[in-house]
Amino acid sequence: MSDEAPDVAGWWRAAGPLSRLLPPETAHRLAIRALALGLVPAARQPEWPRLRTRLWGLDFPNPLGPAAGFDKDAEAVGALFGLGFGFVEVGTVTPRPQPGNPRPRLFRLARDAALINRMGFNNRGLAAMAARLTGRGAGVVGANIGVNFDSADPVADYVACVEALHDRVDYLAINVSSPNTPGLRELQGRANLEALVGTLIEARARLTPAGRRPLPLLVKIAPDLDERDAADIAEVTLAAGLDGLIVSNTTTAREGLSGRHRDEPGGLSGGPLFAPSTALLARMYRLTGGGLPLIGVGGVASADDAYAKIRAGASLVQLYTALVYQGPGLIGRIAAGLARRLESDGFSSVTEAVGADAG
Ligand code: FNR
Repeated sequence: MSDEAPDVAGWWRAAGPLSRLLPPETAHRLAIRALALGLVPAARQPEWPRLRTRLWGLDFPNPLGPAAGFDKDAEAVGALFGLGFGFVEVGTVTPRPQPGNPRPRLFRLARDAALINRMGFNNRGLAAMAARLTGRGAGVVGANIGVNFDSADPVADYVACVEALHDRVDYLAINVSSPNTPGLRELQGRANLEALVGTLIEARARLTPAGRRPLPLLVKIAPDLDERDAADIAEVTLAAGLDGLIVSNTTTAREGLSGRHRDEPGGLSGGPLFAPSTALLARMYRLTGGGLPLIGVGGVASADDAYAKIRAGASLVQLYTALVYQGPGLIGRIAAGLARRLESDGFSSVTEAVGADAG
């Protein structure tokens, strides 16, 4: 029997070929509108008890989520849960709305199962996002936070995001790894990261009522880090008491691509990112001692890929590019395949398999 819910499969059979005729950003915009308007049928999927997982006191029906950038303005959160995701990360949001870079800024490299984007944090801003998120959703919602491209004080931008979203989401992802905002990745350097994280943890403490569990704060990192950077990030993360890492954002590397857009500037995602992002995930798992929740993202296009991320150290898995090429039925296929792989390897839960490959 197919793992794909027939409703979503039928929708994608019609919409998939059409979407590939459109410029990629237009196709994505239409997909988000269709989701927001309830035009995409929800997947009637079974529950997978083996995929249930609990982190930071939060319950996830499964460990799969759309990666940041998919629903930048939190327009389609309910519909994304309807497609079968176990959690949703919205954003990146910046304090003020901004248009992002000039178009075209998103390119398909179909032969490489990849995308290159230089969107530049196009989004409607913090006030619009806060208004959309009531904090009482149907599932776990995280927000990915960033800085305006012309910000005079990046740390203040992140603080503004923490203040506006603190009571409206279940976790915050501090994005210091987009390649498309000049200077942003420098915040991953040891001194900058220490200062940023210290300030945000203070802001969180101010906002947390007595007796309440602090809102989980995660940092999303780039795949293009050397060993020294990775070790510094692990140390700062553990010393500051951050709640997790998201590994990884897109890469600026360009090896072995055949798509004709391969030389476009921006961040590369999809198939070619799988190996480097999974290698960094495994490294961060080791460097953080195996006790810190990690979200694995980069090139996940199948149940085997998602399972490999978990075995490398991921407690949760996100994806974006493969959804563009394979459509929403992929979520159910990955979930069903993951449950089967866990069962055949004798794991009763995702948690048991986390880091199974760590030597
Ligand atoms: C992204 N990604 C991204 N990441 C982030 O932290 N904030 C963002 O706003 C965006 N925006 C964005 C737009 C587009 C068009 C793409 C393709 C990607 C990166 C994304 O969250 C993820 O880390 C990478 O795409 C790797 O995962 P996949 O796509 O290989 O599954």
